Amino acid sequence: MVGSKADAKQLAAATSVSKNKPPKIKPDLKRAALAPSATLFLFGAAGDLVKRLLMPALCNLRRDGLIDDSLRIVGVDHNPRSDGEYADSLRDFIRDEIKNQKLDPKLWGKLAKRISYLQGDFLADATYQGIAARIKEASSGNAVFYLATAPRFFGDVVECLGKAALLQETRSAFRRVIIEKPFGSDLASAQQLNTRILNVMNEKQVYRMDHFLGKETVQNILVSRFANGIFEAIWNHHYIDHIQITAAETVGVEQRGSFYENTGALRDMVPNHLMQLLAMVAMEPPSAFAADAVRDEKAKLLGAIRPTMPDEAIANSARGQYTAAKIDGRQVLAYRSEDKVERSSETETFVALKLMIDNWRWVGMPFYLRTGKRLSARDTEIAICFKPAPYAQFRGTKIRQLKPNYLIMQIQPNEGLWLDFHAKRPGPTVEIADVDMGFSYADAFELQPSTGYETLIYDCLIGDQTLFQRADAIESGWRAVQPFLDAWAKGEGAVEGYAAGSAGPKGADELLAREKRSWHSLG
Ligand code: BG6
Repeated sequence: MVGSKADAKQLAAATSVSKNKPPKIKPDLKRAALAPSATLFLFGAAGDLVKRLLMPALCNLRRDGLIDDSLRIVGVDHNPRSDGEYADSLRDFIRDEIKNQKLDPKLWGKLAKRISYLQGDFLADATYQGIAARIKEASSGNAVFYLATAPRFFGDVVECLGKAALLQETRSAFRRVIIEKPFGSDLASAQQLNTRILNVMNEKQVYRMDHFLGKETVQNILVSRFANGIFEAIWNHHYIDHIQITAAETVGVEQRGSFYENTGALRDMVPNHLMQLLAMVAMEPPSAFAADAVRDEKAKLLGAIRPTMPDEAIANSARGQYTAAKIDGRQVLAYRSEDKVERSSETETFVALKLMIDNWRWVGMPFYLRTGKRLSARDTEIAICFKPAPYAQFRGTKIRQLKPNYLIMQIQPNEGLWLDFHAKRPGPTVEIADVDMGFSYADAFELQPSTGYETLIYDCLIGDQTLFQRADAIESGWRAVQPFLDAWAKGEGAVEGYAAGSAGPKGADELLAREKRSWHSLG
């Protein structure tokens, strides 16, 4: 309610501003061509990934007119069920479990008509004969095999596809394989998996998935950097003091205790997601926005990460594990009390690393990476911390120190780009206030619900590998983290406890404090 005249004025001003706000920009789908006709085989058809992310993504692609009836979807898994039962189970799951996905019955009806099921063991020849028969009866020989299975099947399934001659392409028929993460569990296993895969198909057929690359904000890193003239001149170690890459989560390990026990925060997030963010923010401009050009630059950047020496690994890292605490009045379990977790587990649920990149742009400038579960806020961001301005002109004022400016590339939530800077605080003396300038996705664009997998599935169908990881880059990511895994395997460096709902272990703060720096606050 408006109380005073001043309130009324303020309200009028606010209304006129909002009236003058430019309309939100809509996504432009008209320029995207319909995906070619193909059969999409979903291995691991009954799994969570298919139900929770891939099927909703396929619904959204259908909604946006990017796929039509010519895309057939075949779920492959070992349990017996009919085509109808399979499609209905997907529909029920999306309707009941996925809150932000409105299931349009008409649209679902169209998609469901194209969904069928193939029962089969992933290692049995009969399964692949069944697949061959499904391709034969389709109007086109194009096929995508999506391995949404447990990672232990990746190599075997690919070899079975190869043995059954299902990976042989012709001029009129492509054969592509999408491989989910985790791609290996260390450098040696990633190399081994690449060898097995590349024995039966060529790199152009392999689509190694990293779902972070499906996020608009991650793709926007390259556009922000390379479509704007203002950034390039200052995008180097002369003007930037350091860069922080953070992926903080408030959730714990949820139902994934047994997976996480053997994985830990480093393997789960760093060689894949955080390395992709690092590559996007630090790579050189590609000669074109084309798959090879972008992937060449990423591989070059990841290949330039300075190898961490065995005696540096502990000093350049911190790891932690969440302990029990009350968050907003609710008691939260310690990691060690979670389901399917060893009571004496030493698995890290938080990791922070310092890496250096040995190239002309970044020489001598640290990159700090951190990720963890059960932290105080959900916050995935890249914080670019600029060198401070010289202080001289502020001598003799009340200002004691100049804080650095940060450019924050906010990946999620509150997606956008924010510049923290200083302004004069109104008044007769020289005083500084911290202010910011920002661009928010939600304010600028009309956003449709999406899972992030839409672009990735569509890109695979149209044969665009830009957003998929190449063998060399994935191995460079593992090579960069291997020294830390090796040191920890020898029992070096302790896993520190941190209270659930906090900002992580003390060691992470010390990692930066030693170099007179601190983390950008979470949230
Ligand atoms: C997955 C990890 O790859 O990424 C999960 O296995 C993590 O542990 C998830 O929670 C984070 O992804 P997002 O898109 O929710 O930030």
